[in-house]
Amino acid sequence: MNMLKRPILFAIVIALCLGVSAPHQVTAVQSVTSNTDTLSSSNTEQESPVRMTELRHPEKVDSVLAMMTLEEKVGQLNMLSSGFAETGPTLSEEYRELIGESKLGAILNAHTVEHTLDLQRLAVEETRLGIPLLFAFDVIHGHRTIFPVPLAEASTWDPELIKQASRIAAEEASAAGLHWTFTPMVDVSPDPRWGRIVESSGEDPLLNKLFGVARIEGFQGDDLYDLNTIMATAKHFAAYGAAQAGRDYNTVDISERTLREIYLPPFKAAVDAGVESFMTAFNEYDGVPATGSEFLFNEILRDEWGFDGVVVTDYTAIMEMIPHGFARDSTHAAELAIDANVDMDMMSSIFLNELPGLVQNGIVAEEQVDMAVSRILDMKFELGLFEDPYRYSNYDREAETIRREDFLEFALEVAEQSIVLLKNENNMLPLSRETEKIAVIGPLGDNKYDVMGSWSAAGEESENVSLMEGLRNLLPETDLQFAQGVPLSLEDYSGNGIEEAVELAKESDVVIMALGEGRHMSGEAASRTTLNLPGGQQDLLEAVHETGTPVVLVLMAGRPLDLRWTDENITSIVNAFYLGSRTGDAIASVLFGDHNPGGKLTISWPYNVGQIPNVYYHKKTGRPIDPDQRYTSKYLDAPNTPLYPFGHGLSYTTFEYRNLNISETEITDSGMLNVSVEVANTGERAGHEVVQLYTQKMVASVTQPVRLLRDFEKINLEPGETQTVEFELAAHDLTYLNQELKPVLEPGIVKIFVGGNVEDTLEAEITIVEE
Ligand code: NOJ
Repeated sequence: MNMLKRPILFAIVIALCLGVSAPHQVTAVQSVTSNTDTLSSSNTEQESPVRMTELRHPEKVDSVLAMMTLEEKVGQLNMLSSGFAETGPTLSEEYRELIGESKLGAILNAHTVEHTLDLQRLAVEETRLGIPLLFAFDVIHGHRTIFPVPLAEASTWDPELIKQASRIAAEEASAAGLHWTFTPMVDVSPDPRWGRIVESSGEDPLLNKLFGVARIEGFQGDDLYDLNTIMATAKHFAAYGAAQAGRDYNTVDISERTLREIYLPPFKAAVDAGVESFMTAFNEYDGVPATGSEFLFNEILRDEWGFDGVVVTDYTAIMEMIPHGFARDSTHAAELAIDANVDMDMMSSIFLNELPGLVQNGIVAEEQVDMAVSRILDMKFELGLFEDPYRYSNYDREAETIRREDFLEFALEVAEQSIVLLKNENNMLPLSRETEKIAVIGPLGDNKYDVMGSWSAAGEESENVSLMEGLRNLLPETDLQFAQGVPLSLEDYSGNGIEEAVELAKESDVVIMALGEGRHMSGEAASRTTLNLPGGQQDLLEAVHETGTPVVLVLMAGRPLDLRWTDENITSIVNAFYLGSRTGDAIASVLFGDHNPGGKLTISWPYNVGQIPNVYYHKKTGRPIDPDQRYTSKYLDAPNTPLYPFGHGLSYTTFEYRNLNISETEITDSGMLNVSVEVANTGERAGHEVVQLYTQKMVASVTQPVRLLRDFEKINLEPGETQTVEFELAAHDLTYLNQELKPVLEPGIVKIFVGGNVEDTLEAEITIVEE
């Protein structure tokens, strides 16, 4: 940095490094401090929109703030995209100009040392104060080494593993000049029609919470100042996963009870884990778009939970309050968002354009703007950017870090652990290595692009291992042939390649079919009203099955698909979702038994689309299903139960659960309970099992779900080995919200279920008694 060019910043940096403030800054700091004092005290008497925040670097922040004009302040609240294209960052001149005019505080979608250095230089050397930029990117499941999509990662039931994967993603992302990622998405996702289910940990609040926290800890590490850590973001606040009919960006209309019991716990856990930022959701909650919701951001996030970090909007979400019919115009939208204590405007430029006028007209207090700016500057201090704005952008570190050998090895391990064996009749899997002729059929069989799934960050198609490549790596001598059969498309039903595929199947000893969705058929703006195999894939599957050659189906998709026909007709089904860089190697090692699959579903796999949402934690009804009684709660044309239950996943070995024991039969609402169960490996191979514990409060002042996951443990058992798994259950963790929305645990029976999925369990019961 050319310090001489930046006399003001130079003075600040020197003063801050010496731990003192220049005399004029002391005055500025004092004036800011006294303003905020007045504001906080008035907060208690009359509702002020300013939520004061405990800054980590208050004096440093105030010193910078005191030098800023109002225009420079609102510039800090503005984030624009660098115009990223799939092939890499392409920077348009407009962003460069805005940076040079102090009109940007952060840039989205610029990465690599080269590009971040270029832009940071502009911000630091060409603006009056030289305040460094923040670089943000959606590093969701890996930066350049791509891990499985979050829904697949959740199938590992191993948050610690995913914390390590996030650590690696942070290593790579920070070495590419990035400071900030927009992950974890902790939206509970009960609806497979909703494309973003792929970015979630599934339908369960506890799993979304645990995987969210794991990602936060992985990305943020122990200290944000460390060069290999970056800020994480809990998104999308709140209830984005409850979009009506699973249509993305659609209305959300759920009770406050459901909001608090199901959708909020992962966000609260994110705050407790020290997440640095939150992102607003596109949807409305209770008639108010989240980005302008004082209830969500002021009352819950800031006041109830004490969140001090930065709130960033989702992409153009401030502007979208106008088409929502909530804001009259951009000026009003800016006012609504700043009143909700939103700090940074992603892509609308509405704060930039409207806040100065709102302050000058006395509609928005400058202190409100100051508070938002302070939270952003505080992050910049926390990251060490005022000391050295270029500290994350180092060519050597980037070259040494990106796609390190050990990262790719770890990506293989995570991919293997993510695979769920849905069905394996007659133990057809694992396949024998002696199989002479193997056909790989289907549009995902030799595909290196879609296997990354949505949000593949800086992942590059050529660097991924396709299924064909993985099989060749494992079986270099085997006769492996490939036929695509049909295109990977939602519209194209042409079956021109089916005949060729059928011929290949006839000549082969076994067929591995690789079917599913393209990566852009799930994720953002990718909702579906059917869960069919897209295009002509069902025809292809049926035609190949018809040949009589044994078929193994490998499914890659961003959501569960409709497998009614498949489950009835295909002997073995392996679910991969999307596995990232090492896709082919991971699937090959499962198909041929090098890795014994142990993944379990974190969604109830629907029988058909009409059942949705059909979460395992549904309530009871006054007319429970009775096949012999017409007027009971059921469908005329489908079962009530899903095709595969929540927690389901097979192994090449078998497990038996025995001797469920509870330490007490009665506890008070402050008591503790020990639950133990013996799990035996009754098969012939070592294998992983996820032991799951659910409860049901039988009677309560507010009706309760039939099951709720409370705890789980993933164990590895040798053949013939038995292990006793113990859970400590605190009565406190079993509370629910009463009619006044207060947490309680009323006297009565609680059933305890332990097993390998939600339906297949041993049972015990305890009674909650008065203190
Ligand atoms: C919109 C998505 O909803 C959000 O999750 C993402 O972080 C932003 N775009 C930025 O890409």
